Amino acid sequence: MAVTIGALVERAAGETRASLVPEVAEKFAAAGARVLLERGVAVGAQFPDALFRKVEWADGADAVLAQADVLLTVQPPTLAAIGKLKAGAVVVGFMQAHARAAEVKAMQQRRITSFAMEFVPRISRAQSMDALSSQAAVAGYKAVLIAANTLDRFLPMLTTAAGTIRPAQVLIVGVGVAGLQAIATAKRLGAIVEAYDVRSATREQVKSLGAKFIDTGVSAEGAGGYARELTDEERKRQQEVLDARIAAADAVITTAAVPGRKAPRIVSRAAVERMKAGAVVVDIAAESGGNCELTRAGETVLHGGVRIVGPVNLPAQLAYHASEMYARNLYNFLKPAIGRDGQLAIDWNDEVFAQSCLTHDGAIRHEATRKAVEG
Ligand code: NAI
Repeated sequence: MAVTIGALVERAAGETRASLVPEVAEKFAAAGARVLLERGVAVGAQFPDALFRKVEWADGADAVLAQADVLLTVQPPTLAAIGKLKAGAVVVGFMQAHARAAEVKAMQQRRITSFAMEFVPRISRAQSMDALSSQAAVAGYKAVLIAANTLDRFLPMLTTAAGTIRPAQVLIVGVGVAGLQAIATAKRLGAIVEAYDVRSATREQVKSLGAKFIDTGVSAEGAGGYARELTDEERKRQQEVLDARIAAADAVITTAAVPGRKAPRIVSRAAVERMKAGAVVVDIAAESGGNCELTRAGETVLHGGVRIVGPVNLPAQLAYHASEMYARNLYNFLKPAIGRDGQLAIDWNDEVFAQSCLTHDGAIRHEATRKAVEG
């Protein structure tokens, strides 16, 4: 029988994104799946129901949960939703497993097969499924716009009848996917851009975007292309060089993260106090503890004339395109598991499915999560 793919209106506070958009729903239908949706499923992302073709509309959320073989989500499923899913159903979405022990246990007990988009391996073949990257790019872009909007200055150089305006200096700290998009966006707006990352491999990427790489003499390549934690000595050296660049900046965008750990502290209170009046820090890492000592998630803090913005869920502020990219990531992830007859058949020898699996068949398959949940 054809697989039933379901999606609901996201219920988490502030979540405007959707797990399915019309273009992708149609692709699932073309692949032979039955698509069953709750009314208003993507209205928060500005996709009215009328745009969806070749889908069925369920009589409420519970009807979707009762029938779905595969539930697509943005945020992790709630305990209530998990309780209403068919035993053995599949859930695919961001799972935030480190913070959702109860949900993980519930999915284990109900023999739900869950796939965490955060755990999709970052191999070339899986780039089109990489939801961390697609959403990080949105965050990097939006962070620069927030900085531009918060500043009482221009970003570009302007030559006007009233004289020449000097371009703003923007500093990007952390050059992963979000940082690269932040550099590109700030450049497009005409700012002078400097960037810094502990991974020296980013130097060439920064330069190729026309920005200047700040050399602190500290390199911290870790496993799998991610950063490792720094030693105290390295941190001190990094800090001295960076503090001078922070003081010179009109806007600082921080995006630094180390997987599974609290965000590294990079912008101290003292460094903020050396910044000029009217300068702005936009801290993308606000939700994981913040790269700036003064960041408060979800708030804008005014400290001695400097604004420190701590946005939460930035992708939800650009929900249309964030949803479009996310839904495509989900499709690219699931498509190999949909057979010619529209049936679901997961190849457990495929490292993408194996590594992104959180729970399956009554077990927690993701090792780090299993240790954290089961002790
Ligand atoms: P992330 O969100 O984990 O971290 C953001 C950035 O912060 C990283 O570049 C990291 O090096 C940097 N950082 C950590 N501690 C820092 C510190 N103390 N000071 C300054 N910077 C610090 O990174 P993201 O965006 O998830 O990318 C991580 C890696 O994965 C990168 O190497 C990226 O190129 C790679 N990647 C590979 C893909 C693929 O091959 N399919 C797709 C996407 C990313």
